[in-house]
Amino acid sequence: MYNFEYKNPVKIVFGKGTIPNVVNEIPKNKKVLMTYGGGSIKRTGVYDQVKTALKDFDLLEFGGIEPNPHYETCMQAVELIRKEKVDYLLSVGGGSVLDATKFIAAAVLFEGSDPWDILDKPATSPVKAALPLGAVLTLPATGSEMNGNAVITRKATLEKKAFGSALVMPQFSILDPECVFTLPDRQVANGVVDAFVHVMEQYLTFDVNAPLQDRLAEAILTTLIEEGPKVLADRNDYQAAANFMWCATMALNGLIAVGVPQDWGTHLIGHELTAFHGIDHGRTLAIVLPGMMNLKRAGKKDKILQYGERIWGITEGSDQERIDATIARTIAFFESLGVPTTLPEYDVPAETIDKITFRFKESGMKFGEQRDIDYQTVEAILKDRL
Ligand code: NZQ
Ligand code: ZN
Repeated sequence: MYNFEYKNPVKIVFGKGTIPNVVNEIPKNKKVLMTYGGGSIKRTGVYDQVKTALKDFDLLEFGGIEPNPHYETCMQAVELIRKEKVDYLLSVGGGSVLDATKFIAAAVLFEGSDPWDILDKPATSPVKAALPLGAVLTLPATGSEMNGNAVITRKATLEKKAFGSALVMPQFSILDPECVFTLPDRQVANGVVDAFVHVMEQYLTFDVNAPLQDRLAEAILTTLIEEGPKVLADRNDYQAAANFMWCATMALNGLIAVGVPQDWGTHLIGHELTAFHGIDHGRTLAIVLPGMMNLKRAGKKDKILQYGERIWGITEGSDQERIDATIARTIAFFESLGVPTTLPEYDVPAETIDKITFRFKESGMKFGEQRDIDYQTVEAILKDRL
């Protein structure tokens, strides 16, 4: 196992009826900006719950944050915050609203000339300060509620970029699983796939003798496989919703990543599919992961065999046959949730592969747990999904 440091200060308030507790989590003297998305919180009643709970606060609102939140929209919120001297942010929504809120929190106090540098040049423009923020999470998927990451899209240039800083970790996140009751099938399926692939990015690498991290990762995968279909079948199954929600948080709060190598190649490539075609984040991962497993079957061999055996019970045949069966079983799981896994099913033309490959060639980036995925590997992975 590698050396590591781990600190996660996010307070989780979990359970049925916990949204009104937001009043106990925000310091009383704060001027609060509540951020939200396209209006789902008004339809579901979450908006009213938060407004009622915070009726004695100086509370402003900023709505209209889109899925795969736009830099341009975030900068409008930055302007409002500066004008109104807001000093606390409350995200009410899914991962997109929360990611936008994290970026806004950092952009408001950014000292450089262009806040896009936070995303574009993280090495030379690290976040040095951010407004404090909290979250009421309405969609289990990203794990953003318990980490310091955010992913933002620049509409003008079709770029989707991530940054991470402990300074934008929420001070608290309220997770009421009843929020799952109002999610459409597509968002439930996206959330299950996203959480599943978060685990895979931290697990399907190479062995460093960290059996506890492996088994924690496998526990999350198994629970998602059991509970995800229950949530899809009965949206009012509270227990299934609660288990799904906690899996998504545990999948990306840093715990299973300690002391082990990490990949994140599926995410990097998936983000490009969203940037060019607006495909939902979870769906891009369902497309890319099988290609990643196929192309990196040598470097990831031991872990793919372990995953195949422990998660899907695949023990028969040669190593290569077992790897093939494991990839097929993973695809079948995603498809059973209603998530297609090939590029043509999303009407992505072959030219998009050229555009994405060109971007990785230009950047000269090498990534993955072995730092050996280059633009040619990216091209091969995407061609595998045609
Ligand atoms: O915008 P509103 O009207 O609120 O509707 C949303 C949106 O249309 C709706 N929704 C949310 N909660 C609902 C609901 N509808 C009914 N009932 C509810 N309770 O669902 C739609 C999708 O919401 P969104 O926030 O976009 O989804 P998600 O949580 O999957 O977030 C996706 C974003 O997170 C990023 C992705 O790249 C993408 O931009 N990620 C963030 C990560 C992180 N911060 O650690 C890691 C992930 O890998 C991911 O990249
Ligand atoms: Zn993800």
